[in-house]
Amino acid sequence: MSATSVSKPQSGSSDSKTDESPEEKVTARQASASKREALLRKPVSEDGADVHRLINRCPPLDENSIYCNLLQASHFADTSVAAELDGELGGFVSGYLIPQRPDTLFVWQVAVAEEGRGMGLAGRMIRDILARPGCAQVRYLETTITPDNEASWALFRGLARKLGTECNESVMFDRERHFKGAHDSEMLLRIGPFDVEVQG
Ligand SMILES: CC(C)(COP(=O)(O)OP(=O)(O)OC[C@H]1O[C@@H](n2cnc3c(N)ncnc32)[C@H](O)[C@@H]1OP(=O)(O)O)[C@@H](O)C(=O)NCCC(=O)NCCS
Repeated sequence: MSATSVSKPQSGSSDSKTDESPEEKVTARQASASKREALLRKPVSEDGADVHRLINRCPPLDENSIYCNLLQASHFADTSVAAELDGELGGFVSGYLIPQRPDTLFVWQVAVAEEGRGMGLAGRMIRDILARPGCAQVRYLETTITPDNEASWALFRGLARKLGTECNESVMFDRERHFKGAHDSEMLLRIGPFDVEVQG
């Protein structure tokens, strides 16, 4: 099991206050979250239902079926990561090695609960996967992003910068050709080549 840090529950949670606005509550939870570290680990099948709930709280992510999340948390556990914040699932990255190109990690979805955002958790989760022995041969990372998802562009461009490598963009699934107008085009972002130090 890959764990990069230890969770430190805080006492006196600000959630006990009742006279705060929703924005104030998120800010208070972020302030509390920033004082503790997330525990990163490989998911297990029992995480599937919590992953489903987390994804539903993270628009604009596609809400796949719970069955899909169960498969991500079991068959794709070696290339996915769960992040616990105070014992709750606060982050999840699903990924897989592209079957025809096992030197490439495809990142399917990245989700961080609102109260865990802005602390580098998404980037940490992706690097946690890349540092695993099962990803020792990985030199490229690919993902798809809709043109308007600024947070996602910032996350992956920042990752390329931190890995000291380049990123290339192209259309992978076209709005008309693939989605028949029902969904924005999904842009392919390909990052690499890179070399990540693998954890023993
Ligand atoms: C996108 C998301 C995963 C980012 O999670 P996070 O833990 O807050 O991201 P990080 O703190 O690791 O930030 C990574 C980079 O993205 C930037 N970033 C994060 N959120 C941003 C936002 N809303 N707007 C602009 N930049 C943003 C950070 O400044 C950071 O940049 P840097 O590397 O240059 O310092 C989170 O906002 C989320 O779950 N959103 C909803 C679901 C989604 O859109 N997922 C991505 C598509 S797969």
